[in-house]
Amino acid sequence: MFSDEFLGDFNNLMFVVLPYLSFVVFLLMTIQRYRTQTFTYSSLSSQFLENKHHFWGMVPFHYGVLAIIVGHVVGFLIPGSVIAWNSQPLRLYILEISALVCGILTVVGFVNVIVRRFRSKKIMTVTTTADWILYAILLLQFLSGVYIAVFERWGSSWYASNAAPYLWSLLKLSPDTSFIVALPAMVKLHMVSAFALIALFPFTRLVHILVIPNPYFWRRTQVVRWVGPRRKRIGH
Ligand code: HEM
Repeated sequence: MFSDEFLGDFNNLMFVVLPYLSFVVFLLMTIQRYRTQTFTYSSLSSQFLENKHHFWGMVPFHYGVLAIIVGHVVGFLIPGSVIAWNSQPLRLYILEISALVCGILTVVGFVNVIVRRFRSKKIMTVTTTADWILYAILLLQFLSGVYIAVFERWGSSWYASNAAPYLWSLLKLSPDTSFIVALPAMVKLHMVSAFALIALFPFTRLVHILVIPNPYFWRRTQVVRWVGPRRKRIGH
């Protein structure tokens, strides 16, 4: 349908230009926002406005997404060990099923996060256009991930053998898309939406990921004194 030349250019745009552009935007704007709007570095919690539905979105979503992110990082850092682990079918099934469960947990939690926003007028009021764009791309990211886990087996193996070397080639500043050009369209969409999320990061509430763990863990303890009019002691 498309000429080889067009497909080559398209691949370069999506898998060479876009990742570097996203990374540069991420780096510069994250620092810029921290310097100029330090107090906006937050998840902008809405728990205070609605606390019943909150648990069923936030908790499964965060457990799921953090486990999935750890899985992607491990596959990137030690791809050889992942391939060796997967060499026995039982171990491959354990890894794939665990990843799928975490993916489903993420989708279920995140659908609850979105439904909760729609159902509460108060939360709708504090939801910005940037939030909706972020939620649409996050949803695309999670749904395409679960689709890949179900229909494009065995992701943990080909991620280690193809996606990891491609990502390393980007990191070493000698991009090599030959590892990924033959991957299915849904996998490519999943990658492109990940790059889009990296670029969007500094403009959204995702920045909260960077302020955890926060300084409470290492700063010296503080003595807090109330300053204000003295209250009368009761009973004395
Ligand atoms: C480092 C680990 C993380 C911690 C400790 C954390 C913590 C939090 C907290 C406390 C909230 C506010 C919940 C509320 O009170 O309303 C929140 C919201 C949120 N987090 Fe995280 N988070 C983490 C990682 C992530 C990751 C990796 C993602 C996505 C890739 C993410 C996406 C979100 C989103 C989209 C919201 C807003 C949900 C909503 O209110 O609609 N978080 N997070």
